[in-house]
Amino acid sequence: MRVLIITLATLFTNFVYGQTNNIIPKPAFADDLPGGFTLRESEVIRLEPGDSLQRAVATQFLHRLAASGFGSMRVSNQNGRIIFTKDSSLPPEAYRLRVDPSGIELTASSFGGYFYALQSLWQLSSDLRLYDSVSRKKYTPFFKSCSISDQPRFGYRGIMLDAARHFFPVWYVKKLLRVMSFYKYNRFHWHLTDDQGWRIEIKKYPLLTAVGATRKETAKGYYSFHEFDGQPYSGYYTQEQIREVVAYAKQLNIEVIPEIEMPGHSLAAIAAYPALSCDPSPTEVKTTWGVETNILCPTKYTFRFLEDVLTEVMALFPSRYIHVGGDEAPKLAWQKSAFCQSLIKEKGLKDEHELQSYFIKHIDSFLTSKGRRLIGWDEILEGGLSAGATVMSWRGTKGGIEAAKMKHDVIMSPYTYCYLDYAQGYMMDEPLSYRDMLPLDSVYAFDPVPATLAPDERRFIKGVQGNLWSEYVSGPTAADYQLFPRALALAENGWSEQKSYPDFLRRLKYHFGVLAKQGIKASTAYYDVQYEVKRRSMGKYFLSLKSKDSSLLIRYSDQVNAKSPQWQYYKSPIALSENSFIQVQPVSNSGAIMGKLTSRVFETSLLTGLPYQAEDVSKRYNGGSDYGLTNGIRGQIDNEFTWVAIGTDNLQFSIDAREQISPEQIQINFLKWQSGGILLPTQLKIEVSADGKTYRTVYLAPLENRLYPAKYIYTVSVDNPGTFRYLKVFGKNYGKLDTNYYNQSNRSSIWLDEVFVK
Ligand code: ACM
Repeated sequence: MRVLIITLATLFTNFVYGQTNNIIPKPAFADDLPGGFTLRESEVIRLEPGDSLQRAVATQFLHRLAASGFGSMRVSNQNGRIIFTKDSSLPPEAYRLRVDPSGIELTASSFGGYFYALQSLWQLSSDLRLYDSVSRKKYTPFFKSCSISDQPRFGYRGIMLDAARHFFPVWYVKKLLRVMSFYKYNRFHWHLTDDQGWRIEIKKYPLLTAVGATRKETAKGYYSFHEFDGQPYSGYYTQEQIREVVAYAKQLNIEVIPEIEMPGHSLAAIAAYPALSCDPSPTEVKTTWGVETNILCPTKYTFRFLEDVLTEVMALFPSRYIHVGGDEAPKLAWQKSAFCQSLIKEKGLKDEHELQSYFIKHIDSFLTSKGRRLIGWDEILEGGLSAGATVMSWRGTKGGIEAAKMKHDVIMSPYTYCYLDYAQGYMMDEPLSYRDMLPLDSVYAFDPVPATLAPDERRFIKGVQGNLWSEYVSGPTAADYQLFPRALALAENGWSEQKSYPDFLRRLKYHFGVLAKQGIKASTAYYDVQYEVKRRSMGKYFLSLKSKDSSLLIRYSDQVNAKSPQWQYYKSPIALSENSFIQVQPVSNSGAIMGKLTSRVFETSLLTGLPYQAEDVSKRYNGGSDYGLTNGIRGQIDNEFTWVAIGTDNLQFSIDAREQISPEQIQINFLKWQSGGILLPTQLKIEVSADGKTYRTVYLAPLENRLYPAKYIYTVSVDNPGTFRYLKVFGKNYGKLDTNYYNQSNRSSIWLDEVFVK
């Protein structure tokens, strides 16, 4: 019986792990067949006479081979074993691909179909030389036999690149388009304007780029902090470059959708033409991130400006959709503006939200009159959705659901699954990125069609898009890191009906090689090791190490600064002493380095590994874990991700030690960071209790927020607090910030870490 099971498992393995199982996104139907086809230069490509779509894709077939060092092949209308066949019954983008020892056949009804048949063909080979246009060694590609019949789940599969916060050169945009098309993406959403830069040449308004494409400096570090690099930052695309990119994308079956932001996120335009604002006093291109309150004023002048700009934009971009932003437009300026208030009255509008809706409807009519369709972020729902608008749902899926119920088209791009500027792994180990975490498995888990939609509403979900905002993505290398491999997971969400994460991960191993050959350093954060301190009993703490990729081994060392440390392989939880340094490296079975080396210093105390209860702790940073205050990792002054951030309310938390303890000291560490509006509680109370009913106050005092240094750690210590089991801490928030803080809420927040009871 045992023998039989092994044999079956082997057969099964051979079947499942055929070459069609290299393909990302996963095809709808694929059978692996025996043998394969060896491509030689003597082979001929046979096209149907006069079919320019087939010819265009065949040309790309030849170009890729030539670029990789393979010689040239002939094209014919009579004979040949690499056959392009038209089947008009196939839907757009659908294709069939057959490979067997007698030849290759690519069947489709459209350019996209032939193009995707070719992308799948490339992926059928496991020969990475196909993607190597650097070493160009002579070789003979081999394609495994198979039969594939494939079509996308969604017609819209996009990536958005924010070229406003940071500028990306044309060569990089083209590279991104190439890689996107390899994974069957068909839309490139180009975020071209924002508060921090206007990046598209508009002939009628030359100041947009002469003034709006440059900011005088850029905020350093995470966005709420007031430190600047002092370096002017510029960049824009000429109209000629834009035409070049649009034409290039078309050859890759990608439509480029421009985004011109309105009425918010428009400070770069306002800096160039202050009359666009309700407050026409001069202003500058924004140097910090976040939401800007100075927005476009809905005057005749503004509408004429936007129509002029969009006219030039439409001449450059033949796309059906024109994206007009619409997100994050605070209504403060409109509330204060006499013009807006009288416009609201004149048009019979209810409020400023209806004024935004009026604004978007005006632009929608204009675009519709030119044969285009307006698309905008889900805020365009507020105050009434314009008739022809498509909604891009980013604040979760709620906006998308609402729009679909109103029978409007929807593109799903919720930040919870699709924001590729978020950190891919534990933030302490990642480059500076947006503060939320979005690991690969979470991206993969996304289903763009919400289960709450009725069957007849689901058809309004037209697709899915990943967004790369670029506040913390300063250039091509950083962009590659943030995009890959998560963009591959999203590609599968957009294309494939049937998904399996373990199978995706197995295919991903091959694609890491493919990406590397194309000069992409993808993130391997999903290999990274998670550290978890577990408490067995009072004073006994053990560290568990786990990689999300369970096929990896983990080696670790406690040697600090050793040139070649002595490694041990992790087998079971490691006992921690009061102070433990540990560095960790995931490796493959054969000992190859996989992903990052990371390290931690652990300091344990009597409360380590015990959860804390709190009402309002930011879900970000360590606050997301119940063990943030007791994970053994002390908050570090230069690493904001080691802190537990309490929102803008008072601090209140408690910890149950689970038995009576008589420690020598209670110690709580707070961060004070002036420019971020992070202040010590103005009053702190620490209480302890033996029974959880009657509490004794062991500390009650005001804390002083010194102005200097601007950033420091303040430790509150209580010696000999007596015997207790329960600890309770209250801190009074400083409240409204009175000086020139950069903080959206204009209230102080409290950050602390860690709580030690020794
Ligand atoms: C957005 O992230 N503000 C669309």
